[in-house]
Order: sequence, then structure tokens, then C-alpha cells
Amino acid sequence: MRIALGVTGGVAAYKAAELVRRLQQENFDVEVVMTRGAEQFVRPLTFAALTGHKVITGMFGETSGEPANVESAIEHIAVAQRIDLLLVAPATADVLAKLAAGIADDFLTTLYLATKAPVVVAPAMNVNMWEHAATRENVARLQARGAHVVEPEEGYLACGMTGAGRLASVDSILQTVREALKVRRDLAGETVLVTAGPTCEDIDPVRYLTNRSSGRMGYAVAEAAHERGASVILVTGPTALEIPPGVECVRARSAEDMSRAVGQHLDRATIVVMAAAVADYRPTQKHPQKVKRGAPSLALELEMTPDILSEIGARKDGRIVVGFAAETERLAEHARRKLSAKPVDLIVANDVTQRDAGFDVDTNVVTLLSRDGREKALPRMTKREVAEHIFDEVLRLKTTGKKAHGRAKAGQA
Ligand code: PMT
Repeated sequence: MRIALGVTGGVAAYKAAELVRRLQQENFDVEVVMTRGAEQFVRPLTFAALTGHKVITGMFGETSGEPANVESAIEHIAVAQRIDLLLVAPATADVLAKLAAGIADDFLTTLYLATKAPVVVAPAMNVNMWEHAATRENVARLQARGAHVVEPEEGYLACGMTGAGRLASVDSILQTVREALKVRRDLAGETVLVTAGPTCEDIDPVRYLTNRSSGRMGYAVAEAAHERGASVILVTGPTALEIPPGVECVRARSAEDMSRAVGQHLDRATIVVMAAAVADYRPTQKHPQKVKRGAPSLALELEMTPDILSEIGARKDGRIVVGFAAETERLAEHARRKLSAKPVDLIVANDVTQRDAGFDVDTNVVTLLSRDGREKALPRMTKREVAEHIFDEVLRLKTTGKKAHGRAKAGQA
């Protein structure tokens, strides 16, 4: 998600650098817009280096060091359309007044009028300015229009006075940003181990058996878990995808490698999601040299690979395990059989013959089958949305599991 951070001219402007870092740690792509006043306190270069984006400093989209041009003159519209949230921190009394009045005399205030994205403002100023009736009215007007205001904290202020006016903590600002974007952190404290992608089973040094998995489903699961606050270990087969930021990556090529990697990291995991398309069979032997063309036919002998899900079952402890079932026929029947035969709490049944579902596409059509008998058929949606539904169901299973455990204990007492 993309956030425009408006930095205005107060002493607290230096704190915006830490704010940028923390937003990035939560996977937000941040671009910074500075007012003239802000430039008196912090150099645009600081934010350009932190964000990797040019910092907009002028009314007509001028960036630090570069004058306006035809494209930059309407940059406020482009920025307004591409952002998911506008955050103004620190917000001075002056900028609050301009936003409240709808004055658009610089890039930031123009952006405020041009964007339909949610707005969060974190004021910081002298205590008397904060308590002044004019500021109170401006804040109330912004709130009435839907802006989220992160109230300043009480404390010693840069002006030497003590009282309310100090920029709210980065944690409070982040919390409000998450709320405004409806980003949940309900997996905080969990460690999610996700498998993704295909495996490759070598025939000889140049050929291998594999499948059509692109890794998109598993990577979406890893990304969603990270954004909801979990620590994430992604065990991935060979894919062309970038590892989501903040996610620990363990690479595996074959089913054997993947089994080893999962085994090594399992103890840390509280939730396991097996989205990888692991080969069920591999050549019984790998030819040391390239197999030469010659014989009119060639038989390839295969043997079973390790069943990673069953291996996890032997060490399940209290963790929630999610398996996938990629099927081309009798989806419900096969998925239900996997649910009872495998040590899983939830099966994501995936009819890979459906349009825009299964392998190598951005969307999927799945049914979630839980161990407690609940079945939920989901319409076609992005793999990221499927991932969110999986975690909603995992959390429901965790809560109902805890309640049942509590009841059993009470019964024993
Ligand atoms: O990667 P994408 O292009 O986004 O495609 C997504 C997907 C189709 C790969 C994904 O949605 C999916 O269905 N993944 C599971 C594929 C699969 O191998 O299904 P299965 O029914 O063969 O296996 C059942 C479960 O056992 C799976 O959780 C699998 O990870 C696991 N398994 C399979 C074989 C094996 N040797 N060990 C296992 O643990």
C-alpha cells in the first residue's frame, strides 16, 4: 500500500524520518511531500534516501533540486490517485487551518483536496496553540469530514513549555494508520511457516520433473501473514517472484529439500500453511550425465517423495496446520478425504480446472473445509484475499480450540 507523508514545518519534523522507517517495516511504500516550512527543519535528501522516491517540495510538483515541468504541474492529481492514505505528521497549526478551510496554496494542501484516500493528521505544536479555540475548531472540522486525528501527547515541549502538543508516538500514529486502512494486526505474536511454489525433481543434470505452480498463492499467504503482524518463514520452491519484504526466506528445490527445510524450522512455527505444489513422485535415480537421445523409447522409474504434511503431523503439538488440495475432479470428495486422512485443521480445496483459478494466475476459487465440520465456498477473488480468508478461519479455529480446552479443564476440576 502506498502512503503520502506530508511533513510540515515544526521541530517534530525530524521525527518523520523514524515514521518513514516504521511504515516501511510494515510494507507501506512511502512518498514524502514537504512544505516550505518543513524544509527549514529537515533536508529533503533525508527522505529521498529513506524512501527511494523523489521528495515533492513545490506547489507544481517540483522535487528537491528539480524545477517544475509539464508532467509535474499536475503531479498532485497523479499522487492523489495512486495513494491509499494521506498522513500529515507533524501537522502544524497553520496546515490544520488550511486543510480545515480548504485553502490549496501548496502541494500538500492541494493534495488533501484532490485525494479520495483516507486522511490521518498528527498535530504537533505549542500547548497554547493546540488549546486555542481556532485550532480546536479546525481539528473538529477535519474530524467531521472523516479525518483521523492522532492527538498530541502531554510533556515537555521544544518551546520550553509543558503540556499537550508533543507529536504522538510513532506507535500511536501507526495504529491510527492501520485503523484508517483497516489493516489488522491479529497475527501479532504468531510465527507462520508457509510453503510455496513447485518442487523440481532432477532426472539428469539438465532435465527435471516439475509442475505449473508459480508460487503466487503461497507468497500471497506469506505477505498477508506479515502484514497482519506475524513473523513469517517462507519455504519456497524455485519461482520468479520477489520475496515479500520482512519475510524470512528459505529456498528449497526438491521435495526432499522442502521436507528438510520445513523440519528445521517447524519448532518455531505456531501456524503452518502448505501452499506448495510438492511433487508426489521423483525419479528413483538421477543420471550423473545428460541422458543421450538414441533409444526409441525410455522408461523413467519413479518413487514416492516424502509426505511433508504427514511428517508435520508427527510433530504437530499445538500448532494449526493448513493443507491445500489441488484437484481436477470430485473436489469436495477428495478434499474431505484429505481432511480426515492428513493431520490438518483446515483444507483449502482448489479446483484447478476452473477459469482464473489454481496455477499461475492472480486469482483463485477455493472452498475452506475445517476440522470442526465448517465448509465455506468462496467466490473468485485475488490470491491475497484468499489468504486473508484462510487466516480468518485459522484464528476462528484457534479461538474455538482454546474455548474447548478451557471447558475440558473446567470439567476435570
Ligand atoms: O503457485 P500458484 O501458481 O499460485 O498455484 C497455486 C496452487 C494451485 C499451487 C495452490 O493453490 C495449491 O493448490 N497448492 C497445493 C498443490 C498440491 O500439491 O496439492 P495436493 O493436493 O497434491 O497436495 C495436498 C497437500 O499436501 C498440499 O498442501 C501439499 O503442499 C502437501 N504435500 C503434497 C505432496 C507431498 N509430497 N507433501 C506434501 O506435504
